[in-house]
Amino acid sequence: MKYTIKQVKKEFLNFFEKNGHTIIKNSSIIPENDDSLLFINAGMAPIKNVFTGQEQPDSKRMCNLQICIRTNDIDSIGDRHHLSSFCMLGSWSVGDYFKKEAVAFAYDLLVNHLKIPKEKLYATVFGGDKTRGLPADTDSGNFWQDMGIAKNHILNCSFEDNFWRMGDGESPCGPCTEVFYDTGDKHGKSYEETGYFDDKKRYIEIWNAGVFMQYLQTEKGTYEKLPFNSVDTGSGIERLVMTLNGYESVYQTEVYAPIINHILANSDKAKDESVRIISDHIKTSVLILNAGIEPSNVKRGYVLRRLLRRAMRHLRNINAKEGLLEELVAKTIDNLIECDIAPEWNYSKDQIVEKVKLEQEKFSKLLENGLKVFEEFVSNKNNITDGKLNSNLVFKLYDTFGFPFEITKELANEHNLSVSEKEFEELFAEHKENSKGDVGKVFKSGLADINDNTIKLHTATHLLHAGLKKFLGQNVNQKGSNITPERLRFDFNFERKMTAEEVQAVEDFVNNIINQKIEICREEMPYDLAKESGAVGLFSSKYGENVSVYTIGSFSKEICSGPHAKNTKDLGRFKITKEESSSAGIRRIKAVLQ
Ligand code: ALA
Repeated sequence: MKYTIKQVKKEFLNFFEKNGHTIIKNSSIIPENDDSLLFINAGMAPIKNVFTGQEQPDSKRMCNLQICIRTNDIDSIGDRHHLSSFCMLGSWSVGDYFKKEAVAFAYDLLVNHLKIPKEKLYATVFGGDKTRGLPADTDSGNFWQDMGIAKNHILNCSFEDNFWRMGDGESPCGPCTEVFYDTGDKHGKSYEETGYFDDKKRYIEIWNAGVFMQYLQTEKGTYEKLPFNSVDTGSGIERLVMTLNGYESVYQTEVYAPIINHILANSDKAKDESVRIISDHIKTSVLILNAGIEPSNVKRGYVLRRLLRRAMRHLRNINAKEGLLEELVAKTIDNLIECDIAPEWNYSKDQIVEKVKLEQEKFSKLLENGLKVFEEFVSNKNNITDGKLNSNLVFKLYDTFGFPFEITKELANEHNLSVSEKEFEELFAEHKENSKGDVGKVFKSGLADINDNTIKLHTATHLLHAGLKKFLGQNVNQKGSNITPERLRFDFNFERKMTAEEVQAVEDFVNNIINQKIEICREEMPYDLAKESGAVGLFSSKYGENVSVYTIGSFSKEICSGPHAKNTKDLGRFKITKEESSSAGIRRIKAVLQ
């Protein structure tokens, strides 16, 4: 008999309910009032304050199923059992029972109810950490033995492996005991007492059967005693079903299998790893999109962008047919419902598909061009030192072509080259630092996002401003600006609709300057001097004493914090796509560079 996700969910929740636990509501994947986490990464995260005594729990014994997102080991996705999102079956004792009962519950459910032979199970316990002043957990091992687990199936482990906390910030925490399932000889060498325990391939963790919460990890990294002891457990249902059914991987469970089959049916070059990455990343992206996050270059939005873009690259790798991405998104949504692990939907299926399509449109051209540029980079030996691709180029692929680091890393690996994540991070931080000054004042440049496209559009904005002044009158001034990688939007004071001739004249003016290939010059000078020299300054009260002035030939001179293109020739062709009213006396122009 094969177990289904639905059955195991029911079995787990019924078991704990029968043992006095209240099934509590699960939460959104976005933490509420908690900046320490990007996404809910464990069932306890939404209720963490009950373990410190700050909040009252619904009950002293609770359980539920919670969608969790963990993208820290995105590199492991594609193996048998790592996922960037999964459903965690969780159970809790808040100041109620402790280690003995927790171990007994875990054993009873796994061995007596789910019928896993006890010989297949291994338990790890915390061996203590002297430097942190944390004693070993000697009790849990004894309780496992009392239940019937052999001594040589119980391992003492380090702080890194067996001391659980939510992250590096403030978090209730404690030593934990984890249960591993032995998937057999074909997955690696068997464990010999005190020897190597292959928890990467052969032994799969199926349940953190008890974080014995006794401490509060402070921001400073110290451990303070909590007022009472609690138990927090968590088991990824996909892994549990995989092991119960003797599957090779989590991708054989019904959460992924229909999606994988659909990919295989629509690709003539499917590779296992790519197919797994695609199905995993699309599922997690659906969950993040449903939580109201849009792809972007910061925080949650960037996690989403990385997942979606990596999935798109792999779809290209396997020669996926046109439109497959949208089909997979829709299928994933249907399938989550079918498996009984769907979130509460905030958006319709069509809306989520639309959001993915939008990101795909943004990325597909960049991907094509970026791949060509990548090939050029690697065909030049000067870009490679000791098998490592120059980090400035890795950063350029991110900055100019929107390649998340993982994509470049994978591409490099496919060419037997390495890349340095550390150097990439440094360049990333440096770039952020450099643009911070600008970002602080960014609204006046109007750049929502700083990359090659927005920088060019920003320069085009200066030319547009100059053109409007020339053809509509010198009293025309910028009233607002917003720039995305796709277009600029520029608001200015003017009483009426521009005529088609005026629009054309302004457009020609800008293109004429572009064609003249003029260097853009930046100078620093005191604000008063800048004003005197005729520079257009817009938000004077916001400028510091010294300002930077950008000059484009004799056409434009503006006080501005940048950043700007080097030469007008970089801009391509300027096109006004819309001229409309914004509000009383204010007109709005939208324009693109082609
Ligand atoms: N919170 C514990 C974990 O995620 C159960 O492993």
